[in-house]
Amino acid sequence: MKLCVIEGDGIGHEVVPAAVRVLRQLMPGLEVVSAEAGWDRFEKTGEALPEDTVALAKEAGAVLFGACSSPSYPVAGYSSPIVSLRKRMETFANLRPTRFLPVPTARAGVDLVVVRENTEDLYIGDEHTEDAGDTGTATKRITRAATERIAHTAFRLARNEKRRRVTIVHKGNVLPQTDGLFRRVAYEVAKDYGDIETDELLVDTAAYWMVKDPARFDVVLTPNLYGDILSDMAAAWGGGLGLAPALNIGAEVAIAEPIHGSAPDIAGQGIANPTAVILSASMLARHHWNKPAIADRIDAAVTAALSRGDYTADVLGVNGMSTDEFADIICGGLG
Ligand code: NAI
Ligand code: MG
Repeated sequence: MKLCVIEGDGIGHEVVPAAVRVLRQLMPGLEVVSAEAGWDRFEKTGEALPEDTVALAKEAGAVLFGACSSPSYPVAGYSSPIVSLRKRMETFANLRPTRFLPVPTARAGVDLVVVRENTEDLYIGDEHTEDAGDTGTATKRITRAATERIAHTAFRLARNEKRRRVTIVHKGNVLPQTDGLFRRVAYEVAKDYGDIETDELLVDTAAYWMVKDPARFDVVLTPNLYGDILSDMAAAWGGGLGLAPALNIGAEVAIAEPIHGSAPDIAGQGIANPTAVILSASMLARHHWNKPAIADRIDAAVTAALSRGDYTADVLGVNGMSTDEFADIICGGLG
C-alpha cells in the first residue's frame, strides 16, 4: 500500500507529519513517498503543482495533503494546487463529516456529512476581467453527468452509514439553468433510493439552519461552492477548523486533507492542531483502503485524548499542548 504525502505550505509542514506518524504506527508496511506543491514551491520554481508530484500522486492512488497558501489576487501562472490536483486525480466527491467531538466548543447532537461536488460549479476557473479590469466574470458550470455521480455518492453513503435523509442544497430559484439542473437531476437519482428520505433547502436558508439547528442535517448534497462554505460553518459545531477532516474520492483514488488552510497566523510555532489531518487519514483508511478497524483505532484515540481535556490551543483559545505533544498522545493511545 502506498501513500503520497504533500505537506504544502504553512502548518501543513507541522500537522501532516503527525498524521504520517499515526499511519506508520498502525500500518508498518505502508510505503510513503513525499512530494511538493504549493505557494512556496511556486515561488522557488514557478510551478505550484509540479508534474512529478501529479505522477507520484496518481501512482500511489492515495494522497495525504496538508494545505496550500493561495493569494486572493491574480498571480500569473498560479492557481490553487489542491483544486488542480482534485481535477487531475478526478476526485469528483469531497466528503466532509462533522460529528460531535468531546470538546467544549462542539455542539451535542451534530452528526452530518456534507457531500460536495468537486469538479465543476464556479471552481472550474473560467474567469476573466474586461473593462480595464473593472468588470470580472466567472462561469458556473453544472452538468448532468457530474450531478448524477455526486448524487449517487451521497445516497450510497447515506445507505452505507445508515443515515436517514439527504438534503439537496442549491439556489435554483435564482439560478434555474445551473442549480435548477442540479436539483432536478438529484431528485431523479433519489428515486433509486426509496429507503432514504430526500428534501431540499435553498442555500441561504441552509446557512440559517446550519447555525440555528445543525442537528437538523444528516447528508447534505450540494454543488462545489456551497459545499465549501457550508462545511466550514458545520466545522464550528464539530469543535473548530482544527478538528475538521475531509476526503476527496474518485474512481480508485483518494486525497485526504483537512478542510482548513495553511494558517499563516500560527505557522512555524508548533502549536497547530493535527486532529483534522489525523481524522482525514482515518477517513482514507476507512473509505479508500477499506481498513475500518484501523480507522476506528484512530478515531478512538482522538476521542479519548479530547475527552481527557488534552487540547491544542485553538480549541479553547488558551495555552494548549504543542502539535508534537498532542501527536505523542494520539500515538500512545492507538492501542
Ligand atoms: P485557515 O483555515 O488557514 O485559517 C483560519 C483560522 O483557523 C486561522 O485563525 C487559523 O490559525 C485557524 N486554524 C486553521 N487550521 C488550524 C489548525 N489545524 N490548528 C489551529 N488553528 C487552525 O484559513 P485562512 O486564514 O482563510 O486561509 C489561509 C491560507 O490558506 C490562504 O492562503 C488560503 O488560500 C489557504 N487555504 C487553503 C486551503 C487548502 O489548501 N485546502 C483551504 C482553505 C484555505
Ligand atoms: Mg474551504
